Amino acid sequence: MSQARTIRFSIFRFDPQDPNDKPKMVNYEVTEAPGMTVFIALNMLREQQDPSLQFDFVCRAGICGSCAMVINGKPTLACRTLTANYPKGEIILMPLPGFELIGDLSVNTGKFMRELAERLQLWLQPNSIDNDIHRMEQPMDPDEAAKLYELERCVECGVCVSACATKQMRDTFVGAVGMMKIARFELDSRDTRTADDFYHVIGNQDGVFGCMTLLGCQDACPKDLPHMTQIAYLRRKMALTSPNRIL
Ligand code: SF4
Ligand code: FES
Repeated sequence: MSQARTIRFSIFRFDPQDPNDKPKMVNYEVTEAPGMTVFIALNMLREQQDPSLQFDFVCRAGICGSCAMVINGKPTLACRTLTANYPKGEIILMPLPGFELIGDLSVNTGKFMRELAERLQLWLQPNSIDNDIHRMEQPMDPDEAAKLYELERCVECGVCVSACATKQMRDTFVGAVGMMKIARFELDSRDTRTADDFYHVIGNQDGVFGCMTLLGCQDACPKDLPHMTQIAYLRRKMALTSPNRIL
């Protein structure tokens, strides 16, 4: 029987609340088990070696989006990443860039998503008849429902934000997650906002015209959402809506 190998972790540690603390990398070792994920290894580290290690998780199944971090240079979900993917057994963990650091590997994606939702008004805006709670719900066209479901799969992990070079250069850029959510409401026949309304929100360099099409968002998204198709669609639509359009 082959002997279990040792995985060497180098983990970013920093408590921004402690004025005496400084950012540093700390090394740990864990004995690999079959099917071990980075999340399982982190849990073992916290339980057996260092209870002060901060990282987030809820579902352990790629559903909540909480455990996103940078693993060997790539933003992704720790609970969906096998240690077996790293043949050298060396794993470097960093917090997601572009978000407020809570501590170590934990970042405040919730604050970012909340501010994004308020800025882009990411909620359904139906007409006044639809606000009547006593009215029978209308069935949705199955094709439209299927397309909406596709865009609803976003788990708000923040990976696409961290993988986006434009976002890292321009903090006000709404990022792929913002545009995917706008695409979701633009598609929804119950939403009364017009292309002109959406133009005033994302028809600028902080929205669709700021995207440099580097594809980092689509390459990194753990839910394989169709970022580029949707961003290209919105960009064409916003270009045709622009008051400065040539056509
Ligand atoms: S679009 Fe993908 S990468 Fe971006 S927040 Fe949603 S699930 Fe995460
Ligand atoms: S713990 Fe929920 S996505 Fe990883």
